[in-house]
Amino acid sequence: MIIIQAKDYDEMSRKAALFIAGQVLLKPTSVLGLATGSTPVGTYKELIRFHKEDGVCFQQVRSVNLDEYYGLPASHEQSYRHFMQVNLFDHIDILPGNTHVPDGLTRDPQAYGKEYDEMIASLGGIDLQLLGIGSNGHIAFNEPGRYFTAPTRLVDLNKNTIGDNARFFESEDEVPRQAISMGMKSILGAKRILILASSANKAEAVRDMLEGPIDPMVPASILQLHPNVTLVADYAALSLIS
Ligand code: F6R
Repeated sequence: MIIIQAKDYDEMSRKAALFIAGQVLLKPTSVLGLATGSTPVGTYKELIRFHKEDGVCFQQVRSVNLDEYYGLPASHEQSYRHFMQVNLFDHIDILPGNTHVPDGLTRDPQAYGKEYDEMIASLGGIDLQLLGIGSNGHIAFNEPGRYFTAPTRLVDLNKNTIGDNARFFESEDEVPRQAISMGMKSILGAKRILILASSANKAEAVRDMLEGPIDPMVPASILQLHPNVTLVADYAALSLIS
């Protein structure tokens, strides 16, 4: 794993955006795997700037998102589809039909998960997957557990994740308890992975991902097996690395 250090969140965001813009410049038809949450917001802002000021073009890019809260319609303020529109898609020239975010209202999550993975495969797989990391070591909503789970599927969010994400809702009670999450197979199938981490509350997860054993209790540790992963992290998130 290549580690790129940044002094703070803004520098992490600039470096991550350069990485993604480079991917799109080198391969304008790239399939980008995208993440939501607080971590990539600054990266998306920089990408919007590259689009507006430097002409980086997303017209041929296809995107697939990692996850969506189960039970939230796309129009809900806290849905990940809404997040992507507001933080990125509405400000660049990506074609709406080329963006894919899991459907949080699907009635048959099992069949839907299979279709989502097949859709990713039909695009030729993911060229660059952007990831954040949960403070419990999750990637997408693959929570710590007894196994690494391969397919896209309906998952139960764990207590830690519900607590972490309560900041986006009026109260913890309103945080959905389930999500549709991309599984490890499509994530690890990506040709390149860019994982971001910022702030001290990610330091333990970053240390365990990099230095711990490969353990489903730390889902991100499976990235040790991928041949092309870059971590861009600020000093606080790297503070426990030996
Ligand atoms: C979001 C996702 C999650 C987040 C993680 C970190 O699409 O898949 O794994 O990347 O929960 O969230 P933040 O960035 O809010 O700390």
